[in-house]
Amino acid sequence: MGVVASAPAKVILFGEHFVVYGEPAIVLAIDTRAYAKIENRDDERLCLHSSNLNLSAYFEDGTFKVEQGNTREARMKFEPIRLAAERVLEMYGKHVGLNIEINSTVPVAAGLGSSAAVVAAVTAAAATLLSVKISKQDIFQITFEAEKIVHGTPSGIDPAISTFGGALLFQMDTGFKPLDVKMDIPLVIGDTGVERLTRVQVEKVRQVREKYPQVVEPMMFAAREIVLRAIDAIKKNDMNTLGDLMNINHALLYGLGVSDESLEWLINAARKAGAFGAKLTGAGGGGCMIALANDERLEQVLEAMKRAGGRTFTARKTDEGVRIEGA
Ligand code: MEV
Repeated sequence: MGVVASAPAKVILFGEHFVVYGEPAIVLAIDTRAYAKIENRDDERLCLHSSNLNLSAYFEDGTFKVEQGNTREARMKFEPIRLAAERVLEMYGKHVGLNIEINSTVPVAAGLGSSAAVVAAVTAAAATLLSVKISKQDIFQITFEAEKIVHGTPSGIDPAISTFGGALLFQMDTGFKPLDVKMDIPLVIGDTGVERLTRVQVEKVRQVREKYPQVVEPMMFAAREIVLRAIDAIKKNDMNTLGDLMNINHALLYGLGVSDESLEWLINAARKAGAFGAKLTGAGGGGCMIALANDERLEQVLEAMKRAGGRTFTARKTDEGVRIEGA
């Protein structure tokens, strides 16, 4: 008998990159989820399998053995999961073997927080299987710790949204505040398929900021204003303003050098097909973009983005953070 848990992916609606310098960001959990199934084993092995990535490996007595897929990739993807499972085993008080099966359709390394969603799901499933009492705050902490292996010094946005769900306003100095979003925010997500490293994109922005401080400072101010106006637009259910703000936010990100041709294709296609607005989401340089459209135009925006070469899907906000699906 196993336990299945799931956790949502996320989109940054406004404020990526600027958030690194203390400005606010708005993040939504979306209804695309990563699933983890965990079962007991008779031995002490920690066996991991990801059907989507075609990776299998196990950890035992300090050794790591890959059974399917590339060793480097398997280590990169599985190390955070191992850390999370071991934290739960520490709470359980004894080492036992586990089979961990990952099933996620969240695009990987694309700015949607796939690794945090997987780790949060694994943590919840392992705790439930072993009857370890765990709070959402514990799941967040464990996921955050595991994320540091992947991203170095992440802001914590991904672990928080995957754990708690809903919408969050995040700022470095004040942390997370839940945002009450009643507005339906129908999004089309376009994955360029271009994998990139968050670290590299963050470094690009740092260099531009260092070279042109007087130019970038007002952009930071504009990004803050965008977030404040977006909160207001969300309260008023104002799609037009929200779309405009997405376009302006994207222009700022473009100015910082974190868009690329693959993103521009999809963004232009979405706007031409009638989206209220479109922007890159996450670190940029490839990865994903989002377009805001009402229900009548959602399909045509999606089709246009697909024709422009994107892997596309629709997404809506979900209030459901990490959850147990069943045993
Ligand atoms: C990446 O998803 C978002 C960035 O703002 C980096 C971060 O917040 O850690 C680019």
